[in-house]
Formats: sequence, C-alpha cells, structure tokens
Amino acid sequence: MTHYSHIIGWGKYVPPDILTNFDLEKMVDTTDEWIRTRTGVRERRILKDPEESTATMATRAARDALAKARVDPDDLDLIIVASSSPDYAFPATACLVQDALGASHAGAYDLSAACSGFVYGLAMAHGQIVAGLANTVLVIGSETLSRLIDWSDRNTCVLFGDGAGAVVVQGSDQPGGFLTAELGSDGSGGDLLIVPASGTRHPTTMKTVANGDHYIKMGGREVFRFAVRVMADATRRVVAQAGLALEDIDWIIPHQANVRIIQSSIVKHLKFPAERVYMNLDRYGNTSTASIPLALVDAIEEKKLKPGDNIVFVGFGGGLTWAAAVVQWGVPVPKPPLSFQKQMDLAIHYRWAAIQSFIRRWRRRILGFFLGSPDTETTTEKVSSQLDKVGDQVAKVSRQIHKGEEMNNQQESNNEEE
Ligand code: COA
Repeated sequence: MTHYSHIIGWGKYVPPDILTNFDLEKMVDTTDEWIRTRTGVRERRILKDPEESTATMATRAARDALAKARVDPDDLDLIIVASSSPDYAFPATACLVQDALGASHAGAYDLSAACSGFVYGLAMAHGQIVAGLANTVLVIGSETLSRLIDWSDRNTCVLFGDGAGAVVVQGSDQPGGFLTAELGSDGSGGDLLIVPASGTRHPTTMKTVANGDHYIKMGGREVFRFAVRVMADATRRVVAQAGLALEDIDWIIPHQANVRIIQSSIVKHLKFPAERVYMNLDRYGNTSTASIPLALVDAIEEKKLKPGDNIVFVGFGGGLTWAAAVVQWGVPVPKPPLSFQKQMDLAIHYRWAAIQSFIRRWRRRILGFFLGSPDTETTTEKVSSQLDKVGDQVAKVSRQIHKGEEMNNQQESNNEEE
C-alpha cells in the first residue's frame, strides 16, 4: 500500500491580455492608488478569446504539468478540476479536460469549494492515492472569473483575474510529500460571496439578468474579517497536526486575494516572516482556485523551493470555506528540459486525442441517425460494440507504435552515450 503522495509536476497558463489598474480607472470610479493600497493588485489577466474557456486554460496548464512530471496522459487515474467558473453546470469541466488530454484511463470530476478548491483537490488526490484507488492524479484550479464579473461594480471588478494552475500528484514509498490538511466550511456565510442566479434556486430569467444576479456579489468587509481569522487559525492548526512548529515551515503559499489579508493573518497574527510568504497577486489579482497553484508554479520558477522544504498552502473563499495543507517538498527543481522527441510525441498524442474525440462524436450521431431507438437491441448494440472494438484496436496499435518509437529512441541515446 502506498502511504505517501508527492507533487511531481506543475504547470500554469495565464491569458495574454493584461488589464491594469489604470485601465480600470477608465471603466469605474476608482484609482490605481486605491486598488494598490487596499488590495495589492496592480494588474490581472483577462481571457478575451471567446474560443477559450476555463476548460481550455485548464488543459494548457495540465499539459505543462504532465510534461514536467514526465507522465503520459494515458497513465492518469483521476482528474480533479476545482473551479468557481466552470464551462457548464454539467458536463464537468474535468471531463472536457480529460477528453482534450486523451487521458483514456482517467475518471474526472469538478470540485466546488470556491477559492479553497485547489487545497481541497490536493486532499482528495492524497486520499484516493493512500486508499489505493488511484496512483496518479491531476489536480487543477482554473478560472474565467472575468465572465462572472459585473464590470460596473467597483467593489468586485478590481479584485479578480483569470488563469489556471495544475499539479500532478503521484503515490510513492518515499516519505514526505502531502503531510496533512484541514478542510473547513461555514455555510451560514454563503450569501457573502455568491452568484445568486443561474443555479436551480434562481434559474436564469429576464428578471435575474436585468438585476445582474448572474454576477458575483460580495460582502467585502465581512469576507475580509472571516479570511484574516481562518487563514491564521487554519495554518496554526494544520502545522500542529503535521507534528511541526511554525518555525519548521519554510514557505507559506496563501490564497492570493488581498495583500492586507495575508499581512494581517500570516505576518501579524502568526508572526511569520513576510519574506517567506510567497505572493504574486500584484500580477494576477485573485484567480480563486487557480491562485495557489499559480503562486506555487511562480515560486518554483523563481527557484524559491528546495527538496525538504515544508510548505503550507492555505486558502479561503465562498461557501464560506477554508482549507490548509502541509506539504514537504520532495522534488529537485528545475527539472531538465523535455527532449525534442518527447515534445513531438506529446504533440502527436494531443492531436490524436482530438481526432479520437471527433470520431466518437460523429460515430454517436451516425449510429443514432441510422439505427434509431437504442431499445431495439440487436443491430444497434452489435454494430456499436464492433465499432468500439475497432476503435480500441486502433488506439492499441497506435500506443504500441508510440511505445516502440520511444524504446528505439532510448536505445539510440544509450548507444550514443556508450
Ligand atoms: N475604488 C475606490 N473606492 C472604492 C472601491 C474601489 N474599487 N471599492 C470600494 N471603495 C470605497 C467604498 O465605497 C468605501 O467608500 P466610503 O467610505 O465612502 O463608503 C471605501 O472605499 C472603503 O470601502 P471598504 O469596503 O471599507 O474598503 P476595504 O478596505 O474593506 O476594501 C475590499 C474593500 C473589497 C478590497 C476588502 O474588503 C477585501 O479585500 N475584502 C475581501 C474580499 C475578498 O477577498 N474576496 C474574495 C474572497 S476569495
């Protein structure tokens, strides 16, 4: 039985379009000075391309993470997408990501715990791994909050941004990795951070649209007070739960909502050194579930983390929810770059995944058109199962070719080394 789980790959994607505080000055009654001093945000990324979405950003971040982890999409057992701005109520954004990755053996589900979602996801991944139900899990936080924001509401529009971050979590016999977590909820504060309409409580109507009830509504001051309290308390508790003291913690990577929340809770209340609290919210704003993985990836890229470091991830958000986890970092960074051949292999895999998805869609349509009701067993099921077998066979042969090429390449590089 595997007792440990480690983060072995990480990736991010942020859209190219930047919205600065000065841009916002032209849109609502605010100033760069107010936003910077009250929140710490200077600019944020906005997903403008209508062809792109939470799922496509999640897929980009996931591909980056898989490449760094040297894990093939076919080896994933589970994909968890934490998001407050999923593509649809259903299907799950995670299923769209699974299809785009061609992760043929992975289960997939979305996790809704607002900005605490990524840490919830890490805990779920660890649980699945140590229970023996999965070995390799992709955990993603991805958000297109810009499409849920009322751009005339200065209370909210200055805070949020878009982006995605992903990690690959894998079972291991090596001690360390995910140590422990605390997950919390106080549903009595649900109305403090809410998209009131477009769910089943208040389905979309002309009236809800006219009221702007499909946008994020927030009680900023109350959320602020809640955040300061739970970030400090949850960090203190989770560190003790891991059998550590605050002095043993090398880095705290908090949810990037507001620099004042981070300073009040972690620096002031916990007296934790500010230089060991990682922050990048000046560049991205609050990206909800994506904020902790984006900060993790940036911290790695800035070579802040080293093997053996104890890291606390701590977040809070709508629900109200909070979550904190302690992870002992186990992987040397940076990793050597991917070989050109491997990059090509992955590019081919993703192209092939898109073709397979296309074929499956059309096969379903054609079968539906020619064979009518699925209740009339016989022909429909027979033809369908034959087509399934052909599809599986094609996928099997393609994987064998793919693996054969890899072995040849390995052989060639061994020969060259000799
Ligand atoms: N630009 C200029 N003035 C603004 C403004 C803006 N974008 N937004 C609010 N103000 C004004 C208010 O109207 C108020 O004016 P008044 O004193 O004349 O009434 C004043 O600034 C102070 O407002 P207040 O709400 O007390 O500011 P604050 O210091 O609490 O900061 C937030 C507001 C939203 C930045 C802060 O409360 C916060 O960060 N809360 C947590 C939000 C959060 O993290 N949400 C996501 C959770 S995952």
